[in-house]
Amino acid sequence: RRCIWLSRHGESEYNLTGKLGGDSSLSPRGQLYAEKLPQLVRDAVGDRPLTVWTSTLKRTQQTAKYLPYPKLHWKALDELDAGVCDGMTYEEIERDFPEDFEARDKNKYEYRYRGGESYRDVVARLEPIIMELERQENIMIVTHQAVLRCIYAYFMNVPQDRSPWMVVPLHTLIQLEPRPYSTAETRVPANI
Ligand code: F6P
Repeated sequence: RRCIWLSRHGESEYNLTGKLGGDSSLSPRGQLYAEKLPQLVRDAVGDRPLTVWTSTLKRTQQTAKYLPYPKLHWKALDELDAGVCDGMTYEEIERDFPEDFEARDKNKYEYRYRGGESYRDVVARLEPIIMELERQENIMIVTHQAVLRCIYAYFMNVPQDRSPWMVVPLHTLIQLEPRPYSTAETRVPANI
């Protein structure tokens, strides 16, 4: 049976400082995850053929760097675009754009960052990715929190407007096995 493996990128420099978006590199701990990932994946995938998809941002490509499989980089897998809030922390957004902060809190799925995207926008741009995933065999996707939440919700048959609340932690390999009426899930934490 074919499987889909999902992972967020390893911890980034921006994750450490609480900044959104950007194109930062992995932190030392994130780098450890990248180095540990080949074994984690090998234990789950065995000798089945696998293709790895990443976003076009550095942190996902650095995370996938040591995986010995063919790779594809998709712009459609880039993180939710926070527009004018890109590079800010949640505290800075609350201070500088209090109305936006509140609007997002009220309706996180529909809220679109100024000059950026909403979760609904991300779900729409993921459509070609989902279609391609449905046609492929074993795929591993290394991408970002908001994007993974949407992909995860889709395969777990959770309504798309609940995507913003899916729990997708760092440094964890998620294995999904789509079946006719449900999707079987396994989570393997890297413990780093
Ligand atoms: O903080 C990491 C991050 O991937 C940001 O780049 C992104 O804006 C955020 O998470 C998405 O999470 P939330 O929708 O909960 O703000």
